[in-house]
Amino acid sequence: MSAMRDASMNTNMHAAFLREISRLQSGLATADLGDAAVRAGLARRYQFFSQALHHHHQGEDTYLFPGVRSKASPAEQAVLDEMDAEHEGLVDTLAVLDDQFSHLDQSTDKAAVTARLDELSQVLSAHAAHEERDGVPIVQKYISDEDFNAFMKFNRGAPDASLIMPWMCDGADASVQAATWGNLPAPVRIFLKPIMTRKYSKFTKECGV
Ligand SMILES: [Fe+2]
Ligand SMILES: [Fe+2]
Repeated sequence: MSAMRDASMNTNMHAAFLREISRLQSGLATADLGDAAVRAGLARRYQFFSQALHHHHQGEDTYLFPGVRSKASPAEQAVLDEMDAEHEGLVDTLAVLDDQFSHLDQSTDKAAVTARLDELSQVLSAHAAHEERDGVPIVQKYISDEDFNAFMKFNRGAPDASLIMPWMCDGADASVQAATWGNLPAPVRIFLKPIMTRKYSKFTKECGV
């Protein structure tokens, strides 16, 4: 049996990234960029998103794809190459946005930032669909328990790790919310879910997005 029996966390996280891009676009559209506190909140929200996306790709690039490469067929290795190339392509778009969100001011061209977010959404959406369809089955076929456990440990150490689960549930349907919290063992969930949910609400309020 595969060490990665359930790929729903990956799929649901992809959907959360795409929702977050829309959220950032809405936040940007209504933000008064002449207000320093508003700028700081928006930048903080973007930073959370950017770090989470980088961390997600770093985990895949470190623990999922390399570990299965030597066992994969030539056709499967070609898919793994495409996964690497698509992650690389996202880095360039993210670097531009990282710069834009770290230099927000009254003269920021909102339309230009929105267009970059649109571009990111399109590229990320295509990559996510490709990974879910072709990349994940290869990982599931070959990944060792050791690599998968290391991947899960890496994810638990993500920046703002305590915000990730409630963020994945924000805007998701009930079944996705249940599946997300279902990753925690029940006794841990009972303790942590309210704490994490409160923390995420506070974060959202502070960012104003
Ligand atoms: Fe992914
Ligand atoms: Fe990926």
